[in-house]
Amino acid sequence: MALFFLFVLANSLHSQYVDDSTLLLSKNDMKWWRNAKLGLFIHFGLYSILGRGEWVMWSERIDTATYSPLRDKFICEKFDAKDWVNIAKEGGCKYMVVTARHHDGFCLFDTEFGDYDSRNSAAKRDLIAEYVEAAHNAGMKTGIYYSPLDWRYPGFFFPDLYRTNAEEMKKQTYTQVRELLTNYGKIDILWYDGGEDNWLGYGGLMWNGSWYTRGFEKPYTGKFSWEPIKLNKMVRELQPKVVISQRSGWMGDFETQEVGFRGKPQKRPWELCTNLSGGAWGWTPSCTTSIMSLDSCIQLLVMVVSQDGNLLLNVGPKPDGTIEAAQVQRLKEIDGFISKYDESIYNTQGGIYDARWGGTTVTDKAIYVHVLNVPFDRTINLPPVSQKVSSARYLRDNKKATFVQSDDGVVLTDIHDKQKEPDLIIKLTLK
Ligand code: GLC
Repeated sequence: MALFFLFVLANSLHSQYVDDSTLLLSKNDMKWWRNAKLGLFIHFGLYSILGRGEWVMWSERIDTATYSPLRDKFICEKFDAKDWVNIAKEGGCKYMVVTARHHDGFCLFDTEFGDYDSRNSAAKRDLIAEYVEAAHNAGMKTGIYYSPLDWRYPGFFFPDLYRTNAEEMKKQTYTQVRELLTNYGKIDILWYDGGEDNWLGYGGLMWNGSWYTRGFEKPYTGKFSWEPIKLNKMVRELQPKVVISQRSGWMGDFETQEVGFRGKPQKRPWELCTNLSGGAWGWTPSCTTSIMSLDSCIQLLVMVVSQDGNLLLNVGPKPDGTIEAAQVQRLKEIDGFISKYDESIYNTQGGIYDARWGGTTVTDKAIYVHVLNVPFDRTINLPPVSQKVSSARYLRDNKKATFVQSDDGVVLTDIHDKQKEPDLIIKLTLK
Protein backbone atom coordinates (compact mmCIF):
# COMPACT_ATOMS: atom_id res chain seq x y z
CA MET A 1 0.00 0.00 0.00
CA ALA A 2 2.75 2.41 1.06
CA LEU A 3 4.68 1.49 -2.05
CA PHE A 4 1.65 2.16 -4.21
CA PHE A 5 1.20 5.55 -2.54
CA LEU A 6 4.84 6.43 -3.18
CA PHE A 7 4.47 5.42 -6.81
CA VAL A 8 1.39 7.61 -7.28
CA LEU A 9 3.06 10.50 -5.48
CA ALA A 10 6.23 10.22 -7.57
CA ASN A 11 4.19 10.21 -10.74
CA SER A 12 2.04 13.11 -9.76
CA LEU A 13 5.09 15.13 -8.72
CA HIS A 14 6.53 14.63 -12.15
CA SER A 15 3.35 14.74 -14.12
CA GLN A 16 3.78 16.82 -17.21
CA TYR A 17 0.75 18.95 -16.41
CA VAL A 18 -0.27 20.52 -13.13
CA ASP A 19 -3.95 19.94 -12.45
CA ASP A 20 -5.38 23.06 -10.89
CA SER A 21 -9.02 23.50 -11.72
CA THR A 22 -9.31 26.83 -9.88
CA LEU A 23 -7.81 28.55 -12.91
CA LEU A 24 -10.17 26.96 -15.42
CA LEU A 25 -12.70 29.03 -17.33
CA SER A 26 -16.33 28.24 -16.65
CA LYS A 27 -18.38 26.19 -19.11
CA ASN A 28 -20.12 29.34 -20.11
CA ASP A 29 -16.88 31.16 -20.87
CA MET A 30 -15.72 28.21 -22.97
CA LYS A 31 -18.94 28.09 -24.93
CA TRP A 32 -17.86 30.20 -27.88
CA TRP A 33 -14.71 28.12 -28.27
CA ARG A 34 -16.57 24.84 -28.11
CA ASN A 35 -19.09 26.04 -30.68
CA ALA A 36 -16.44 27.37 -33.03
CA LYS A 37 -15.18 23.97 -34.29
CA LEU A 38 -12.74 25.23 -36.90
CA GLY A 39 -9.75 27.55 -36.52
CA LEU A 40 -6.85 28.69 -38.68
CA PHE A 41 -3.34 28.22 -37.31
CA ILE A 42 -0.56 30.34 -38.82
CA HIS A 43 3.16 29.65 -38.42
CA PHE A 44 5.21 32.60 -39.61
CA GLY A 45 8.67 33.75 -38.63
CA LEU A 46 12.32 33.95 -39.70
CA TYR A 47 12.25 30.25 -40.56
CA SER A 48 9.74 31.03 -43.35
CA ILE A 49 12.60 32.66 -45.26
CA LEU A 50 14.63 29.44 -45.34
CA GLY A 51 11.63 27.35 -46.35
CA ARG A 52 12.76 24.26 -44.50
CA GLY A 53 10.25 24.34 -41.68
CA GLU A 54 10.03 26.12 -38.34
CA TRP A 55 12.51 23.69 -36.78
CA VAL A 56 15.30 24.51 -39.19
CA MET A 57 17.43 26.21 -36.55
CA TRP A 58 17.33 23.08 -34.43
CA SER A 59 17.46 20.41 -37.07
CA GLU A 60 20.35 21.98 -38.98
CA ARG A 61 22.15 23.03 -35.78
CA ILE A 62 22.27 26.67 -36.85
CA ASP A 63 23.72 28.78 -34.04
CA THR A 64 22.07 32.02 -33.02
CA ALA A 65 24.82 34.20 -34.49
CA THR A 66 24.26 32.63 -37.89
CA TYR A 67 20.47 32.43 -37.67
CA SER A 68 19.54 35.81 -36.24
CA PRO A 69 20.76 37.96 -39.21
CA LEU A 70 17.79 36.47 -41.06
CA ARG A 71 15.86 39.32 -39.56
CA ASP A 72 17.58 41.67 -42.02
CA LYS A 73 15.92 39.63 -44.75
CA PHE A 74 12.57 39.53 -43.02
CA ILE A 75 10.80 42.06 -45.22
CA CYS A 76 7.42 40.35 -45.63
CA GLU A 77 6.58 43.05 -48.13
CA LYS A 78 3.18 41.61 -49.01
CA PHE A 79 2.04 40.89 -45.49
CA ASP A 80 -1.46 42.22 -45.00
CA ALA A 81 -3.17 41.05 -41.84
CA LYS A 82 -6.57 41.78 -43.36
CA ASP A 83 -5.85 39.18 -46.03
CA TRP A 84 -5.00 36.57 -43.41
CA VAL A 85 -8.21 37.28 -41.55
CA ASN A 86 -10.29 37.19 -44.74
CA ILE A 87 -8.75 33.89 -45.73
CA ALA A 88 -9.70 32.46 -42.35
CA LYS A 89 -13.19 33.85 -42.61
CA GLU A 90 -13.72 32.61 -46.12
CA GLY A 91 -12.42 29.22 -45.01
CA GLY A 92 -15.17 28.84 -42.43
CA CYS A 93 -12.75 29.38 -39.53
CA LYS A 94 -14.20 30.99 -36.44
CA TYR A 95 -10.90 31.74 -34.76
CA MET A 96 -7.24 32.16 -35.55
CA VAL A 97 -3.98 31.40 -33.78
CA VAL A 98 -0.82 33.14 -34.99
CA THR A 99 2.74 32.41 -33.84
CA ALA A 100 3.78 35.50 -31.93
CA ARG A 101 7.01 33.71 -31.10
CA HIS A 102 8.19 30.23 -31.95
CA HIS A 103 11.05 28.19 -30.43
CA ASP A 104 13.69 30.20 -32.33
CA GLY A 105 12.84 33.16 -30.10
CA PHE A 106 12.05 35.73 -32.79
CA CYS A 107 9.04 37.88 -31.90
CA LEU A 108 6.46 39.15 -34.36
CA PHE A 109 5.57 41.85 -31.81
CA ASP A 110 7.30 44.76 -30.11
CA THR A 111 9.05 43.54 -27.02
CA GLU A 112 11.05 45.40 -24.44
CA PHE A 113 12.86 42.21 -23.59
CA GLY A 114 15.68 42.68 -26.08
CA ASP A 115 15.27 43.65 -29.70
CA TYR A 116 14.83 40.32 -31.41
CA ASP A 117 11.55 41.27 -32.97
CA SER A 118 9.89 42.24 -36.23
CA ARG A 119 10.08 45.94 -35.38
CA ASN A 120 13.85 45.54 -35.45
CA SER A 121 13.82 43.53 -38.65
CA ALA A 122 13.77 44.70 -42.25
CA ALA A 123 9.96 44.78 -42.00
CA LYS A 124 10.06 47.37 -39.16
CA ARG A 125 6.49 46.46 -38.19
CA ASP A 126 4.65 44.95 -35.26
CA LEU A 127 2.90 42.15 -37.13
CA ILE A 128 0.92 41.01 -34.13
CA ALA A 129 -0.51 44.50 -33.64
CA GLU A 130 -1.66 44.49 -37.25
CA TYR A 131 -3.07 40.99 -36.98
CA VAL A 132 -4.98 41.63 -33.79
CA GLU A 133 -6.43 44.85 -35.16
CA ALA A 134 -7.56 43.16 -38.37
CA ALA A 135 -9.07 40.25 -36.46
CA HIS A 136 -10.90 42.54 -34.07
CA ASN A 137 -12.28 44.60 -36.92
CA ALA A 138 -13.60 41.48 -38.59
CA GLY A 139 -15.09 40.03 -35.42
CA MET A 140 -12.67 37.10 -35.66
CA LYS A 141 -11.68 35.44 -32.40
CA THR A 142 -8.03 36.21 -31.86
CA GLY A 143 -5.47 33.67 -30.73
CA ILE A 144 -1.80 34.03 -30.02
CA TYR A 145 0.74 31.20 -30.01
CA TYR A 146 3.68 31.65 -27.68
CA SER A 147 6.61 29.31 -27.01
CA PRO A 148 8.15 29.72 -23.55
CA LEU A 149 11.15 27.63 -24.55
CA ASP A 150 13.78 29.40 -26.59
CA TRP A 151 16.61 27.63 -28.44
CA ARG A 152 18.91 30.63 -28.02
CA TYR A 153 19.24 29.90 -24.32
CA PRO A 154 21.75 27.31 -23.11
CA GLY A 155 19.57 27.30 -20.01
CA PHE A 156 16.85 25.59 -21.97
CA PHE A 157 19.14 22.71 -22.88
CA PHE A 158 20.89 22.52 -19.48
CA PRO A 159 18.51 24.22 -17.04
CA ASP A 160 20.47 23.15 -13.97
CA LEU A 161 23.96 23.72 -15.29
CA TYR A 162 23.03 27.18 -16.60
CA ARG A 163 20.45 28.06 -14.02
CA THR A 164 20.89 31.85 -14.24
CA ASN A 165 20.44 31.66 -17.96
CA ALA A 166 17.35 29.47 -17.58
CA GLU A 167 15.92 32.00 -15.13
CA GLU A 168 16.55 34.75 -17.66
CA MET A 169 14.61 32.75 -20.24
CA LYS A 170 11.78 32.37 -17.76
CA LYS A 171 11.81 36.11 -17.10
CA GLN A 172 11.52 36.62 -20.83
CA THR A 173 8.41 34.44 -20.91
CA TYR A 174 6.70 36.29 -18.08
CA THR A 175 7.59 39.67 -19.58
CA GLN A 176 6.48 38.80 -23.09
CA VAL A 177 3.28 37.04 -22.08
CA ARG A 178 2.46 40.16 -20.08
CA GLU A 179 3.23 42.36 -23.11
CA LEU A 180 1.05 40.25 -25.39
CA LEU A 181 -1.86 40.35 -22.99
CA THR A 182 -1.51 44.04 -22.16
CA ASN A 183 -0.67 45.86 -25.34
CA TYR A 184 -3.19 44.59 -27.88
CA GLY A 185 -6.66 44.65 -26.36
CA LYS A 186 -8.70 41.51 -26.04
CA ILE A 187 -6.95 38.25 -26.77
CA ASP A 188 -9.28 35.26 -26.97
CA ILE A 189 -6.79 32.38 -26.98
CA LEU A 190 -3.33 32.01 -25.53
CA TRP A 191 -1.82 29.00 -27.24
CA TYR A 192 1.35 28.03 -25.38
CA ASP A 193 3.67 25.47 -26.87
CA GLY A 194 6.68 23.83 -25.26
CA GLY A 195 6.34 25.00 -21.67
CA GLU A 196 6.06 21.52 -20.24
CA ASP A 197 8.70 20.08 -17.94
CA ASN A 198 9.00 17.19 -20.34
CA TRP A 199 10.59 19.53 -22.85
CA LEU A 200 13.31 20.71 -20.51
CA GLY A 201 16.90 19.65 -20.34
CA TYR A 202 17.47 18.19 -23.74
CA GLY A 203 21.16 18.77 -23.36
CA GLY A 204 21.30 16.53 -20.32
CA LEU A 205 21.56 12.80 -20.05
CA MET A 206 18.50 12.32 -22.20
CA TRP A 207 19.97 13.99 -25.24
CA ASN A 208 20.49 11.62 -28.13
CA GLY A 209 20.75 14.10 -30.95
CA SER A 210 17.10 14.21 -31.85
CA TRP A 211 14.08 16.04 -30.54
CA TYR A 212 11.65 14.16 -28.41
CA THR A 213 9.71 14.67 -25.24
CA ARG A 214 10.81 12.87 -22.13
CA GLY A 215 8.93 9.74 -21.31
CA PHE A 216 7.13 9.76 -17.98
CA GLU A 217 9.52 7.07 -16.85
CA LYS A 218 12.39 9.59 -16.98
CA PRO A 219 10.91 12.88 -15.86
CA TYR A 220 12.87 16.08 -15.58
CA THR A 221 13.95 16.15 -11.95
CA GLY A 222 16.01 19.32 -11.86
CA LYS A 223 15.32 22.48 -9.93
CA PHE A 224 14.13 24.77 -12.69
CA SER A 225 10.40 25.34 -13.05
CA TRP A 226 8.32 27.56 -15.27
CA GLU A 227 5.84 27.77 -12.39
CA PRO A 228 2.87 27.47 -14.69
CA ILE A 229 0.33 28.26 -11.97
CA LYS A 230 2.04 31.54 -11.18
CA LEU A 231 2.30 32.33 -14.89
CA ASN A 232 -1.34 31.63 -15.58
CA LYS A 233 -2.54 33.47 -12.49
CA MET A 234 -0.89 36.50 -14.02
CA VAL A 235 -2.60 35.70 -17.32
CA ARG A 236 -6.02 35.47 -15.66
CA GLU A 237 -5.46 38.85 -13.99
CA LEU A 238 -4.60 40.45 -17.31
CA GLN A 239 -7.24 38.72 -19.42
CA PRO A 240 -9.71 36.84 -17.24
CA LYS A 241 -11.53 35.17 -20.13
CA VAL A 242 -8.69 34.13 -22.37
CA VAL A 243 -8.83 30.45 -23.36
CA ILE A 244 -5.48 28.87 -22.48
CA SER A 245 -3.87 25.81 -24.07
CA GLN A 246 -2.40 23.09 -21.89
CA ARG A 247 1.17 23.42 -23.08
CA SER A 248 2.47 25.79 -20.40
CA GLY A 249 2.60 22.89 -17.98
CA TRP A 250 -0.75 23.79 -16.41
CA MET A 251 -3.62 21.54 -17.51
CA GLY A 252 -5.12 24.42 -19.52
CA ASP A 253 -8.68 25.14 -20.57
CA PHE A 254 -8.28 22.66 -23.38
CA GLU A 255 -6.00 19.82 -24.40
CA THR A 256 -4.15 19.84 -27.65
CA GLN A 257 -3.38 16.92 -29.87
CA GLU A 258 -1.30 16.87 -32.97
CA VAL A 259 -1.33 15.04 -36.27
CA GLY A 260 -1.09 11.43 -34.96
CA PHE A 261 -4.45 11.54 -33.19
CA ARG A 262 -4.33 9.46 -30.01
CA GLY A 263 -8.06 9.39 -29.34
CA LYS A 264 -10.43 11.75 -27.63
CA PRO A 265 -9.34 12.88 -24.15
CA GLN A 266 -11.66 12.06 -21.31
CA LYS A 267 -14.25 14.73 -20.66
CA ARG A 268 -12.02 17.68 -21.47
CA PRO A 269 -12.37 20.32 -24.16
CA TRP A 270 -9.83 19.42 -26.81
CA GLU A 271 -8.43 20.48 -30.12
CA LEU A 272 -6.62 18.65 -32.87
CA CYS A 273 -4.10 20.76 -34.72
CA THR A 274 -2.71 19.64 -38.03
CA ASN A 275 -1.21 20.94 -41.21
CA LEU A 276 -3.30 21.67 -44.24
CA SER A 277 -0.22 20.58 -46.17
CA GLY A 278 1.78 17.71 -44.69
CA GLY A 279 5.25 18.21 -43.26
CA ALA A 280 6.51 21.29 -41.46
CA TRP A 281 4.25 23.92 -39.92
CA GLY A 282 6.33 26.78 -41.31
CA TRP A 283 6.38 27.39 -45.07
CA THR A 284 8.15 24.94 -47.37
CA PRO A 285 8.06 25.02 -51.17
CA SER A 286 6.39 21.61 -51.26
CA CYS A 287 3.35 22.75 -49.29
CA THR A 288 1.40 23.27 -52.49
CA THR A 289 1.86 19.69 -53.61
CA SER A 290 1.38 18.02 -50.23
CA ILE A 291 -1.94 19.72 -49.57
CA MET A 292 -4.73 17.59 -48.10
CA SER A 293 -7.62 16.73 -50.37
CA LEU A 294 -10.94 18.40 -49.71
CA ASP A 295 -12.47 15.07 -48.76
CA SER A 296 -9.74 14.43 -46.19
CA CYS A 297 -10.23 17.88 -44.67
CA ILE A 298 -13.98 17.41 -44.35
CA GLN A 299 -13.64 13.91 -42.97
CA LEU A 300 -11.04 14.98 -40.44
CA LEU A 301 -13.28 17.81 -39.31
CA VAL A 302 -16.21 15.44 -38.90
CA MET A 303 -14.07 12.93 -37.02
CA VAL A 304 -13.04 15.69 -34.62
CA VAL A 305 -16.38 17.44 -34.09
CA SER A 306 -18.29 14.20 -33.64
CA GLN A 307 -15.87 13.55 -30.78
CA ASP A 308 -16.60 17.01 -29.42
CA GLY A 309 -13.31 18.61 -30.41
CA ASN A 310 -12.14 21.55 -32.49
CA LEU A 311 -9.91 21.39 -35.54
CA LEU A 312 -7.10 23.92 -35.92
CA LEU A 313 -5.79 23.77 -39.48
CA ASN A 314 -2.37 25.20 -40.12
CA VAL A 315 -0.84 27.13 -42.98
CA GLY A 316 2.64 28.59 -43.16
CA PRO A 317 2.72 31.82 -45.19
CA LYS A 318 5.49 32.44 -47.70
CA PRO A 319 8.42 34.73 -46.76
CA ASP A 320 6.64 37.69 -48.39
CA GLY A 321 3.77 37.22 -45.95
CA THR A 322 1.17 35.81 -48.33
CA ILE A 323 -0.56 32.48 -48.01
CA GLU A 324 -0.18 30.02 -50.88
CA ALA A 325 -3.04 30.31 -53.40
CA ALA A 326 -3.59 26.53 -53.37
CA GLN A 327 -4.13 26.60 -49.61
CA VAL A 328 -6.45 29.59 -49.85
CA GLN A 329 -8.40 27.73 -52.47
CA ARG A 330 -8.69 24.60 -50.31
CA LEU A 331 -9.89 26.63 -47.35
CA LYS A 332 -12.58 28.19 -49.54
CA GLU A 333 -13.65 24.75 -50.67
CA ILE A 334 -13.90 23.60 -47.06
CA ASP A 335 -16.18 26.51 -46.37
CA GLY A 336 -18.06 25.79 -49.58
CA PHE A 337 -18.92 22.41 -48.17
CA ILE A 338 -19.58 23.21 -44.54
CA SER A 339 -21.55 26.37 -45.17
CA LYS A 340 -24.15 24.23 -46.95
CA TYR A 341 -24.42 22.07 -43.87
CA ASP A 342 -23.34 24.48 -41.16
CA GLU A 343 -26.21 23.59 -38.82
CA SER A 344 -24.63 20.14 -38.48
CA ILE A 345 -21.18 21.46 -37.53
CA TYR A 346 -21.09 24.78 -35.70
CA ASN A 347 -22.89 25.11 -32.36
CA THR A 348 -23.32 21.37 -32.03
CA GLN A 349 -21.92 18.90 -29.55
CA GLY A 350 -20.14 15.68 -30.26
CA GLY A 351 -22.27 12.55 -30.22
CA ILE A 352 -20.74 9.22 -31.10
CA TYR A 353 -17.90 8.26 -33.40
CA ASP A 354 -17.49 4.95 -35.16
CA ALA A 355 -14.44 4.59 -37.41
CA ARG A 356 -16.38 2.15 -39.61
CA TRP A 357 -18.91 4.66 -40.89
CA GLY A 358 -18.54 8.14 -39.29
CA GLY A 359 -20.10 9.97 -36.38
CA THR A 360 -22.86 12.18 -35.06
CA THR A 361 -23.20 15.74 -33.84
CA VAL A 362 -26.13 16.81 -31.71
CA THR A 363 -28.19 19.80 -30.64
CA ASP A 364 -31.30 19.95 -28.46
CA LYS A 365 -33.44 19.59 -31.54
CA ALA A 366 -31.57 17.23 -33.82
CA ILE A 367 -29.02 14.51 -34.30
CA TYR A 368 -26.87 14.83 -37.40
CA VAL A 369 -25.56 11.54 -38.71
CA HIS A 370 -22.38 12.14 -40.71
CA VAL A 371 -21.84 9.15 -42.95
CA LEU A 372 -18.23 9.13 -44.11
CA ASN A 373 -18.35 5.56 -45.44
CA VAL A 374 -21.64 4.03 -46.44
CA PRO A 375 -21.66 0.52 -44.93
CA PHE A 376 -22.03 -2.41 -47.35
CA ASP A 377 -25.47 -3.26 -46.00
CA ARG A 378 -26.43 0.45 -46.18
CA THR A 379 -27.48 0.27 -42.56
CA ILE A 380 -26.37 2.17 -39.46
CA ASN A 381 -27.37 1.23 -35.93
CA LEU A 382 -27.42 4.13 -33.53
CA PRO A 383 -27.70 3.82 -29.74
CA PRO A 384 -31.04 4.54 -28.01
CA VAL A 385 -32.32 8.12 -28.13
CA SER A 386 -34.49 9.30 -25.24
CA GLN A 387 -36.54 11.73 -27.35
CA LYS A 388 -38.77 10.72 -30.21
CA VAL A 389 -37.24 11.01 -33.67
CA SER A 390 -39.95 12.66 -35.73
CA SER A 391 -38.21 12.55 -39.08
CA ALA A 392 -35.00 11.58 -40.83
CA ARG A 393 -33.94 13.50 -43.91
CA TYR A 394 -30.83 13.87 -46.05
CA LEU A 395 -29.56 17.40 -45.58
CA ARG A 396 -28.37 17.39 -49.19
CA ASP A 397 -31.81 17.41 -50.78
CA ASN A 398 -34.21 17.13 -47.86
CA LYS A 399 -35.35 13.72 -49.11
CA LYS A 400 -36.61 11.24 -46.54
CA ALA A 401 -34.32 8.61 -45.10
CA THR A 402 -35.72 5.33 -43.81
CA PHE A 403 -35.40 4.63 -40.11
CA VAL A 404 -36.91 2.68 -37.27
CA GLN A 405 -36.74 3.82 -33.66
CA SER A 406 -37.10 1.36 -30.79
CA ASP A 407 -35.84 1.00 -27.23
CA ASP A 408 -32.72 -0.58 -28.66
CA GLY A 409 -31.83 2.44 -30.74
CA VAL A 410 -32.39 4.02 -34.12
CA VAL A 411 -31.70 1.99 -37.24
CA LEU A 412 -31.14 3.80 -40.50
CA THR A 413 -31.55 1.62 -43.57
CA ASP A 414 -31.17 1.89 -47.33
CA ILE A 415 -28.66 4.70 -47.04
CA HIS A 416 -27.79 5.97 -50.49
CA ASP A 417 -24.96 8.22 -51.48
CA LYS A 418 -25.47 8.98 -55.14
CA GLN A 419 -23.16 11.98 -55.25
CA LYS A 420 -20.34 10.35 -53.32
CA GLU A 421 -20.00 13.30 -51.02
CA PRO A 422 -17.18 13.29 -48.45
CA ASP A 423 -19.82 13.50 -45.75
CA LEU A 424 -23.39 12.37 -46.34
CA ILE A 425 -25.49 13.96 -43.61
CA ILE A 426 -28.82 12.67 -42.35
CA LYS A 427 -30.72 14.87 -39.96
CA LEU A 428 -32.83 13.20 -37.30
CA THR A 429 -35.28 15.75 -35.98
CA LEU A 430 -36.13 15.31 -32.31
CA LYS A 431 -39.50 15.99 -30.75
C1 GLC B 1 5.11 21.22 -31.88
C2 GLC B 1 6.25 21.84 -32.60
C3 GLC B 1 5.94 23.07 -33.28
C4 GLC B 1 4.55 23.36 -33.70
C5 GLC B 1 3.56 22.77 -32.78
C6 GLC B 1 2.13 22.85 -33.27
O1 GLC B 1 5.08 21.47 -30.56
O2 GLC B 1 7.38 22.02 -31.80
O3 GLC B 1 6.84 23.33 -34.29
O4 GLC B 1 4.41 24.71 -33.62
O5 GLC B 1 3.87 21.50 -32.43
O6 GLC B 1 1.29 22.13 -32.48
